[in-house]
Amino acid sequence: MKIHEVIITTCDMDDNHHIAPMGINIIDNEVIIKPFKPSKTLENLRETKSAIVNFIDDVRVFAGIVTGIKKEWGLEKVSSNKVMRLKEANSHFTLQVKTETDDEVRPKISCDIIDRKVHKPFLGFNRAQFSVIEAAVLVSRLGRIPMDKINKEIEYLKIGLDKTAGNTELEAWSWIEEKIKSFEIKNDA
Ligand SMILES: Cc1cc2nc3c(=O)[nH]c(=O)nc-3n(C[C@H](O)[C@H](O)[C@H](O)COP(=O)(O)O)c2cc1C
Repeated sequence: MKIHEVIITTCDMDDNHHIAPMGINIIDNEVIIKPFKPSKTLENLRETKSAIVNFIDDVRVFAGIVTGIKKEWGLEKVSSNKVMRLKEANSHFTLQVKTETDDEVRPKISCDIIDRKVHKPFLGFNRAQFSVIEAAVLVSRLGRIPMDKINKEIEYLKIGLDKTAGNTELEAWSWIEEKIKSFEIKNDA
């Protein structure tokens, strides 16, 4: 099934917001989110039954969160919902949780799309953005996949990055490299 890499914003009952990259399925008027356990996103989805899907081409958000180097990003209120969207999102969907299929590892949360808004135009595909997203997935799996596989894939992804990156992609990539380096030093890998 087709997966869209997005940023999910959620909040708890006290309006504390949480931002996380997730891969979602979009089927007509429905979105399926599959958070691994344990997950703050899952807790918030259960608590407030609401979320925003942020479609965003600033890939620093993906890299910043998975590396832990920049976890806070600008948020903006949306009409008639307590969960805020990313200020820099190109577009967003507002979601209402409909059902949950529980699972030991990865529950499946089905949501209705109750609103859709566009904020900025889509400016075409960029290979460096693809590289950063792929590298962010690798970073989120550090410790679970072998270091030589990670380093080999990073080396390949750097080709597209070097040819097509702008400043935001270069900054995101520097966070990815910093995180991998510090992980290797800490784990003597
Ligand atoms: C592109 C991308 C897609 C991801 N997709 C998922 C996902 O579908 N489910 C998930 O649990 N984590 C996913 N992750 C990892 C989470 O973003 C990360 O583990 C995050 O900390 C989620 O946990 P949290 O809600 O407690 O913050 C993804 C990471 C990246 C970079």
